[in-house]
Amino acid sequence: MLQKQNPKNKNIQVYVKDGLYPRTEARVSVFDSSVQGGDAVWEGLRVYPEGVVCLEKHLTRLHESAKTLAFVDIPSKAEIKKAIKMTLDANGMNDDTHIRLTLTRGEKITSGMDPRLNQNGSCLIVLAEWKPLVYDNNSGIKVLSTSQRRNAPQYLDSKIHHNNLLNNIIAKIQANVAGKDAGLMLDDRGFVAELNGSNLFMVKNGKVFTPYAHACLPGITRATVVELCQKNNIEIEEQDITLSQLYNADGVFATGTMGELTPVVEIDGREIKKDDSLQQEVLQLFSGNIRSFCEPLD
Ligand SMILES: Cc1ncc(COP(=O)(O)O)c(C=O)c1O
Repeated sequence: MLQKQNPKNKNIQVYVKDGLYPRTEARVSVFDSSVQGGDAVWEGLRVYPEGVVCLEKHLTRLHESAKTLAFVDIPSKAEIKKAIKMTLDANGMNDDTHIRLTLTRGEKITSGMDPRLNQNGSCLIVLAEWKPLVYDNNSGIKVLSTSQRRNAPQYLDSKIHHNNLLNNIIAKIQANVAGKDAGLMLDDRGFVAELNGSNLFMVKNGKVFTPYAHACLPGITRATVVELCQKNNIEIEEQDITLSQLYNADGVFATGTMGELTPVVEIDGREIKKDDSLQQEVLQLFSGNIRSFCEPLD
């Protein structure tokens, strides 16, 4: 699935560091840390008329990622919310909108890796675009397991939501070459970690399973699914899951803010059914409740 350019996004306003700029003028310096070393953290947010889905959790993860990377001059949650509201208002957006929220370590005084060269404070970017769910959640997606491993904590902790996305991009390239929608990534032990841009769940014998968050992003949509299952007496368990278990699951689905809940209908050429009744129940629980997880900006 290749996203298309939406003409509605041609003249959007983007918030960069201290204010709004038209899309064509919205840019960071060539000395910015994101250019120099992918030295930035980010969140993907989805906007409904009721507000931003799980906003507090996203802002907490952004703050925690920035703290782990020892950013200084981190904007407060109130400041970030103000910038988001300003951006949405300027673009007249309150639905079908996805926000790429990025915080870079900021501009350096000269090129180099050393964070002490960052003497201009961090740089917040609020890029809001008209972007409905990116996958067709009725037909589902086909995925390919890739040779690229997802980082385990001894390399780069997957709990940091950082902009060093090359592992995941290489996995996506492998899936593209094979004509599939997403790359499935294993951890360094060979257990399933996640897709290149979303988390994975499987349904088997009336229970729902998801890999431990040791080598995947602890996704906020993933946490919402776990919470919904627990509240509705659906058995859910974190587990080490192998590819063979996934091939033989009663159902498999991916979770993420970009696409919400998406059935996986093929893994490495093996068909996965998408009509399992428990899987249907979980998908419906999510779509029926998603707006109750929205938080207004003021
Ligand atoms: C690698 C990866 N996994 C999973 C997710 C899904 O996370 P969330 O549900 O918080 O959007 C994302 C989203 O940014 C991601 O980049």
